[in-house]
Amino acid sequence: MKYFIGNWKMFGIPKSISILKKINSFYSIDKNRNKYKVIFTPPFTLLESYSQFFKKKYLSIGSQNCYQKDQFSSNTAAISSYMIKKVGAEYTLIGHSDNRAEGDTDVILKDKIKFALKNNLKVVFCIGENKLEKRKNKTFRVLKKQLKKALERKFNKKKIIVAYEPIWSIGTGRTPKAKELNKTIKFIKKVLKNIFKQNSPAVLYGGSVDEVNVKKFKEIDEIDGFLIGGASKSSKKFIDIIKNYYR
Ligand code: PGA
Repeated sequence: MKYFIGNWKMFGIPKSISILKKINSFYSIDKNRNKYKVIFTPPFTLLESYSQFFKKKYLSIGSQNCYQKDQFSSNTAAISSYMIKKVGAEYTLIGHSDNRAEGDTDVILKDKIKFALKNNLKVVFCIGENKLEKRKNKTFRVLKKQLKKALERKFNKKKIIVAYEPIWSIGTGRTPKAKELNKTIKFIKKVLKNIFKQNSPAVLYGGSVDEVNVKKFKEIDEIDGFLIGGASKSSKKFIDIIKNYYR
């Protein structure tokens, strides 16, 4: 099973649902649809209405983040996994580099994952090295640390997806070379096997994925799907990514 996940970031108002309706309609008639799953992460403001609308349809809805405490607390503007689950969402992103940059540490991320799983959300855990780390050949070391510090063997790996998003590729139009990416994904899966002592969860790639460069990722069968930012705000681009991937 492959995953195509659209991350809207700070984008979307109620009527933007028309974008997702078009993607849902495409999915409903796509002959390849049993090969993949589509998930979207709109902002918190749209989480309830979109989750309810797509409840009995094909698309799944998730949040872009969640707070590191369970249930209710006195943290202003914080939203827990419990609250996310109760409005009908199924997934949550955790560890996006935007949130790591705003202060999410490995310890915080581990709590986020723990409470997300406890509340029956599926987790899309994001990891990735920055430009300097890449230049200094520290990519593998950084990724291994990000995985080992936040994931535990006792976590239900069936509810976890890992998204490899090199920070230097997010929103820049730059993507890793196919060969390099293949090696990195293999490495990530090796680390994950070691953590869970069984098969690796799905590992996605994210960072400037579009309808053109997705063709080069086709050859890398280690990739279990994509986390798509900018191109997920257009139904045409998002659908073309799926079409071109299976062409
Ligand atoms: P991008 O974003 O596709 O716009 O590079 C990806 C992400 O940050 O999830």
